[in-house]
Amino acid sequence: MKTYKEAILNASDFGEDFIWGVSTAAYQIEGAHDLHGKGPSIWDKFTATPKTILNGDNANVSCDFYHRYKEDILLMKSMNIDNYRFSISWPRVLPNGTGAINKAGIEFYNDVINFCLDQNITPWVTLYHWDLPQNLEEKGGWTNRDILNWFSEFTKVCANAFGDRVKNWMVLNEPMVFIGAGYFLGVHAPGKKGLKNFLPAAHHAVLCQAEGGRLLRKLVPKAHIGTTFSCSQITPYRNNKRDRKTAVQVDALLNRLFIEPALGLGYPINEAPVLKKLQPYIQSTDMEDCQFNFDFIGIQNYTREKVKYSLFVPYIKAKIVKASKRNVQTTLMDWEVYPPSIYNMIKKYNDYPQIKKIIITENGAAFKDTMFEKKIDDTQRKDFLKRYLGQVLKAKQEGLNIHGYFVWTFTDNFEWAEGYHPRFGLVHIDFKTLKRTIKESGKWFSNFLSS
Ligand code: FCB
Repeated sequence: MKTYKEAILNASDFGEDFIWGVSTAAYQIEGAHDLHGKGPSIWDKFTATPKTILNGDNANVSCDFYHRYKEDILLMKSMNIDNYRFSISWPRVLPNGTGAINKAGIEFYNDVINFCLDQNITPWVTLYHWDLPQNLEEKGGWTNRDILNWFSEFTKVCANAFGDRVKNWMVLNEPMVFIGAGYFLGVHAPGKKGLKNFLPAAHHAVLCQAEGGRLLRKLVPKAHIGTTFSCSQITPYRNNKRDRKTAVQVDALLNRLFIEPALGLGYPINEAPVLKKLQPYIQSTDMEDCQFNFDFIGIQNYTREKVKYSLFVPYIKAKIVKASKRNVQTTLMDWEVYPPSIYNMIKKYNDYPQIKKIIITENGAAFKDTMFEKKIDDTQRKDFLKRYLGQVLKAKQEGLNIHGYFVWTFTDNFEWAEGYHPRFGLVHIDFKTLKRTIKESGKWFSNFLSS
C-alpha cells in the first residue's frame, strides 16, 4: 500500500466509494440577479451599498451560470467530475421569501438538475448559501424567530420541487460565517453588527438547521441529508496559559457553536461563557428541536488560525493574529497555507461519536494566476490541493471517518466582500468575455480523478 507521503496521488488510493466533486454557490456564480421574476437578496442590496465590496464589485452578472450552466456542466463532465454541489437561490424560487413561487426559478433549477443527471453528474444541493431574500431581511432576517417558518416554507418548496431527483442535500452553508460576518462583524450582507444581532441569529440558524433536516427526511424519499460547517484548527499564538485558554474559547466559538447543539450536546458555554447570553432566546423545547441525526456532516477547511489573549476585545478577550504578520505562506485571502489543518479537523470531528459520516464539502485556495504560453499556470493551487489531499489521504489510511472531498471551486467567481479579486477556480473566467479556460490545476485534478 502506498503511503500519503508519496508525491504521486491517485484518486483510487482513497477507495472506490470516495466521493469527488466541486462546490459552488448561487449568488457567487449565477448572475441574472433580476431576471425572470427573481427577487432581490441581501447580497444584491449589500453589493449595491457603497464601500461594502472590494473595488465596488457585485455579482449582477458574475459567471452568468444562469445562461451558461450547460457549458459549465459539460466542462465538468470533460474533467471527470461526477458530483456537483450548488445552492438554490431562495429569492429566485420565492421572490418575497414566502408566498408566491416563481415558476421560472423552479424551471431553472430543474434544468440544471436534469442536465447534470443527463451527464451522469450527481447533484448535491445546498438549501442556504447566504442569499436571504431582502424582503425577509426587512423583517429582521435571521434575528427574527419567524425565520423558522420562512425557512421551513422554502425547504418544503425545494424538497417538493426537486426531491424526486435530488437525493443529496445540505441544509446550511457555514452558519458561523454568515451569522458571524453578516450579523456580528457587519462585513458580509446584511451588514448588521453586535451581539444583540449575532445571538438571536445564531440560535435561529441552529434551529433551522435541524428543522430543515427533519423536513427533508419527511418529504424526500431516500434522502442523504447533511449540513456544512466552516472549521479551522485553532492554535495559541504564544505557548502560555492565557493564550492556550483563549484558543480553547475561540475553538468553541468557531468550530463547535453550531454543530454541538445539533448533536445533542448543547452550546459550549463552559469554554465560551459569552454564549450564556443566548439564554433569553432559547424557548422551552428548543434544545431538543436543535437536534437532528444528519446522515453526513460537511466540513469546510482552508487554513488554521493563531489566536492570542487581548484585554481590549470585549466579551471574548481574544484576537486572531493575521497570517501576514506571522511570516508564513499565505493565499490571496491572507489565509495561511497549512495542510495539517485539514487532517486535524477530520480528526477533531471524528471525536464526536454521533457523526455518522464526514465529507469535506469545501477546500481550495485563491492565488494569483498567470497566463503563460496560453496556459493558466497556477502551480501554487495545484500544490495546495495536492498537499491538502495528502493530509486527507493520511486520515483515510488511518481509518478515520472521511468519505468525500469537494474542491472549492469550479470556476473563478464572486468572492463575497473580496469581489473578483481572489480567484479560487479550477477553471479561469475572463470576466469581460466570460470565456472559460481550464487552469493547469484543473487539468491536474481531472487526471487525478481518472487515476
Ligand atoms: C467559504 C464559503 C464559500 C467561499 C469560500 C472561499 O467560506 O462557503 O462560499 O467563499 O469560503
